[in-house]
Amino acid sequence: MLGVKNLHKSFGSNEVLKGIDFNVENGEVIAIIGSSGSGKTTLLRCMAFLEQADDGIYTFDELNKDIRTITRKEIKELRMKMGFVFQSFNLFRNKTAIQNVMEGLVVARKMNSEEARKISLAMLEKVGMADRIDYYPDQLSGGQQQRVAIARALATNPEVILFDEPTSALDPELTGEVLDVMVKLAKEGITMVIVTHEMEFARNVADRIIFMEDGVVVEEGPADEILSNPKKEATKRFLRRILRNEEE
Ligand SMILES: Nc1ncnc2c1ncn2[C@@H]1O[C@H](COP(=O)(O)OP(=O)(O)OP(=O)(O)O)[C@@H](O)[C@H]1O
Ligand SMILES: [Mg+2]
Repeated sequence: MLGVKNLHKSFGSNEVLKGIDFNVENGEVIAIIGSSGSGKTTLLRCMAFLEQADDGIYTFDELNKDIRTITRKEIKELRMKMGFVFQSFNLFRNKTAIQNVMEGLVVARKMNSEEARKISLAMLEKVGMADRIDYYPDQLSGGQQQRVAIARALATNPEVILFDEPTSALDPELTGEVLDVMVKLAKEGITMVIVTHEMEFARNVADRIIFMEDGVVVEEGPADEILSNPKKEATKRFLRRILRNEEE
């Protein structure tokens, strides 16, 4: 449903994405792993049009176009079909949990506030935040804020949700509650692309794992295969390093 082909992106003379091919099918959960600086965030940002890629083919459902020729109007429509969850929650500080979730429905989708409130409540319930709907972000833990951010992404009923290291800004004891919510969404069949360093989580929820290094996809395949039986030397090296760190 969502894919890029031969995607290129440079910042000045620094080529960060060097021809990425990537596809996610309806209902699939994909984990993207790789070292710091390998281009994972840039790939997500290009897919979300938060960053303009230099070259490549972009597909979303029946749209299939050279990424340079996609119009503003198309971008706006595409973004309506996607949800985003970032490392740093990005909630409005001056709005309560439920107001944060309602915002996208009322402002971008022009939904009446009664309807928006109903949907937002249901989404906050889904992420286990029904008892905190009137709290401001500063009154919530990091894990709770991230769950509100997930509820916000869910509220617009997107076809796919892109997550960029949703737990990496959290204290270790708070990552579990966020990962649990994501496991639940995966079971519901929500299409997700997740950049993560949580290997156990990736093994449990991802249908496929994509390993990136230095702006290219080095290896991809079923989660178990990539984690237990990687074929490429670079993948083995990365996994050895990350698993060693986890033990420390
Ligand atoms: N806005 C920007 N301007 C210039 N260079 C950038 C910009 N964003 C990213 N880069 C560069 O692109 C490269 C890839 O960065 P990116 O954030 O995509 O990596 P990453 O795989 O997400 O790393 P991490 O695991 O640390 O989040 C880095 O060398 C980074 O310095
Ligand atoms: Mg990143």
